[in-house]
Amino acid sequence: MTASETRPLTAAAPSRARKFPSGFMWGTATAAYQVEGAACVDGRTPSIWDTFAHTPGKVFEGHTGDVAVDHYRRYREDVRLMSELGLDSYRFSVSWSRVQPTGRGPAAQKGLDFYRRLVDELLTAGIEPALTLYHWDLPQELEDAGGWPERATAERFAEYAALLAGALGDRVERWTTLNEPWCSAFLGYGSGVHAPGRTDPVAALRAAHHLNLGHGLAVQALRAALPSGGRLAVSLNLHEVRPLTASDADREAARRIDAVGNRIWLGPMLEGGYPEDLFADTARLTDWSFVQDGDEAAIGQRLDWLGVNYYTPTVVSEVAAGEAKPQEDGHGDSAYSPWPGADDVAFHRAPGERTAMGWPVDPSGLYDLLTRVSARYPDLPLVVSENGAAYEDVVGPDGSVEDPERIAYVHAHLKAVHRAIADGADVRGYFLWSLLDNFEWAYGYAKRFGAVHVDYETLERTPKASARWYAGVARTGELPSAGREKPARRPREIR
Ligand code: FCB
Repeated sequence: MTASETRPLTAAAPSRARKFPSGFMWGTATAAYQVEGAACVDGRTPSIWDTFAHTPGKVFEGHTGDVAVDHYRRYREDVRLMSELGLDSYRFSVSWSRVQPTGRGPAAQKGLDFYRRLVDELLTAGIEPALTLYHWDLPQELEDAGGWPERATAERFAEYAALLAGALGDRVERWTTLNEPWCSAFLGYGSGVHAPGRTDPVAALRAAHHLNLGHGLAVQALRAALPSGGRLAVSLNLHEVRPLTASDADREAARRIDAVGNRIWLGPMLEGGYPEDLFADTARLTDWSFVQDGDEAAIGQRLDWLGVNYYTPTVVSEVAAGEAKPQEDGHGDSAYSPWPGADDVAFHRAPGERTAMGWPVDPSGLYDLLTRVSARYPDLPLVVSENGAAYEDVVGPDGSVEDPERIAYVHAHLKAVHRAIADGADVRGYFLWSLLDNFEWAYGYAKRFGAVHVDYETLERTPKASARWYAGVARTGELPSAGREKPARRPREIR
């Protein structure tokens, strides 16, 4: 008989509060095109996302980031909100075409001044800036010159990194090169559901390589220019790939998706080169001759931490020729696949609870991902650089938003992070996506991920219940056992 079996039924339940290690960093994240607005102000030129959003049929109901949530003008209020929530860090991205309008050459002073003001405001509030150089908004001029499928874009990216390091390096220590290059390459140039909307698998693979190269060259440029050398990282949406069944065929499908989803980045960035099986899987499409001698060494720069973005696992199976192929990979509808070399792979969504994006809620995927990645790269601290959920928020008559599903989602995922740390994963921080409701790419403003509600008419900000809940976690460094694991009933819609 075990101790728990002998415990009297009336005994108080042991405290289930989970304490995070001291110094664990609590933050929120946004991205320039999703929040800034001010698209044509102070010399900013269009990025591929401006062009894409202004192309009819590309974004839900023709929404654009022209105004977004006007963070460009309201950043002081937004920093105050973060400060009131007691957050340690703010992960934001820089709009390349705001600080270097042609994607090359001299900087736009007013654009740089905005980021200086933002960073100063953060530092004054005691919030650490975590700057992402590239969150998908390539200057349109560079796309017109060929975009990421062309090598020159990687070189331009390194120059842009050096320019920003010169301008902000005295006040920003924590830098991320790219956010989710998988999306840039494969949704942008493969399935076409993201800007620039191209649907060419070879261009997508070329883009992947030049994003990798841009990352490596940018890390070199940052190391050279930053006074302290910086604390440098990349943020990857690593896919937690699960075979639908234990069959050899489904395991083979998982291997392929792991290659083109994960190891295409981790290989050259952290393991010295591209995996051979990726070359074999894509041999029908390209011989990869765009990878030049020395490129893999240039990509494999030492990093100080790795950003892991996680929302839901990826469940795959192999389909036999002629069989109907489920394609529910959660990355939007397109006749074109974002998975080059994996035509015989089908994607499935797990049964059960889903967010408003239709993404299954499965925190075990985050646990598995963090423990696996940390075991493979034990010297590389991890930070969850994005995690969060969209739900159909309802504004109450008094303007408040009760969002128990979001609290439950974040609670369950933080529990997974805590368990991963307890089991040895070196995880140093967590950034909730997102601080504010914002422009959710091809879904426009239809999907709300914010801890803070934004009224899109007035741009008024109102912290949701989840913001207050998250502030409590950040303040105490402790995950309360009281966080509701199951969504409470939502309030009736007010008409
Ligand atoms: C990630 C993106 C981020 C946001 C979330 C929901 O893939 O990096 O900008 O759209 O998804």
